[in-house]
Amino acid sequence: MRRFFPVDELARDRRFEPVRAEERLADPRNQVVRPTRGPTRAAGRLRPERPDAPDAARQLMHSIFMGEIQALEGAGRTVWDFDDAAAPFALKLDMARQCWDEARHTEISVKLGEHMGTEIGEFAETTFLYQAACNPDPVLRLTGVNRALEGLAIDVFNTMREFGEASGDPVLTFCEDWMLADEVTHVKMGSDWLRRLTEHDPDRRERALEFQRVVDKLFSFRGFRGEADENPVQLARTFRRMAGFEEAEIDEIAESSKEIAS
Ligand SMILES: [Fe+2]
Ligand SMILES: [Fe+2]
Repeated sequence: MRRFFPVDELARDRRFEPVRAEERLADPRNQVVRPTRGPTRAAGRLRPERPDAPDAARQLMHSIFMGEIQALEGAGRTVWDFDDAAAPFALKLDMARQCWDEARHTEISVKLGEHMGTEIGEFAETTFLYQAACNPDPVLRLTGVNRALEGLAIDVFNTMREFGEASGDPVLTFCEDWMLADEVTHVKMGSDWLRRLTEHDPDRRERALEFQRVVDKLFSFRGFRGEADENPVQLARTFRRMAGFEEAEIDEIAESSKEIAS
């Protein structure tokens, strides 16, 4: 079996419509729209009383569903792509456990989609997560995927769990709560392995953290994630602390959200 599997050859049936992250970010229809830009999609926190709340929630959870599949594929690649010198066996065991979790999240997401009235493939598949998981340095995979993108998943699941509670939907609330618990573990794996693998290599650590910052900033784009009421996805400080983020790192994400939102 070959190593470093290209994103364009991922197995997908006809239901899926993959788009490159660059294409999606360049398409204004896919960006979070500020309130002044039209009535169809409001900015701001997701609340049950918002008329667009069901569609916004369905779209967000479909993109998470696609992220679950790619997280499974990405963690699986890390088990296979490296020899034990580049990626210690214990790291591969953690990635194998993550595969099992992501497979379960994929099943949960399919059933949650049915519950919310969403068909598989109703929204496009952005392949950004898998692209980040193709980095030739396993430490950059850990910062780009486990810390940046699964850190974002923590924020999304916590936001959606609160939305489920506010809208009186126990199915949504339980699904989010269970997946959130696993994502905290996955982000913690990223934090722990980053520290272990770069303990004596500050330059490599800095390169990995810089990759994480670049990915994080993409998703703070136009105020998508932050701590203000206008941010649809709220930064989940407590869960990020549990996942091995230092206070200064969380502050940095919050600050960059403000810069980009203004
Ligand atoms: Fe997941
Ligand atoms: Fe995960």
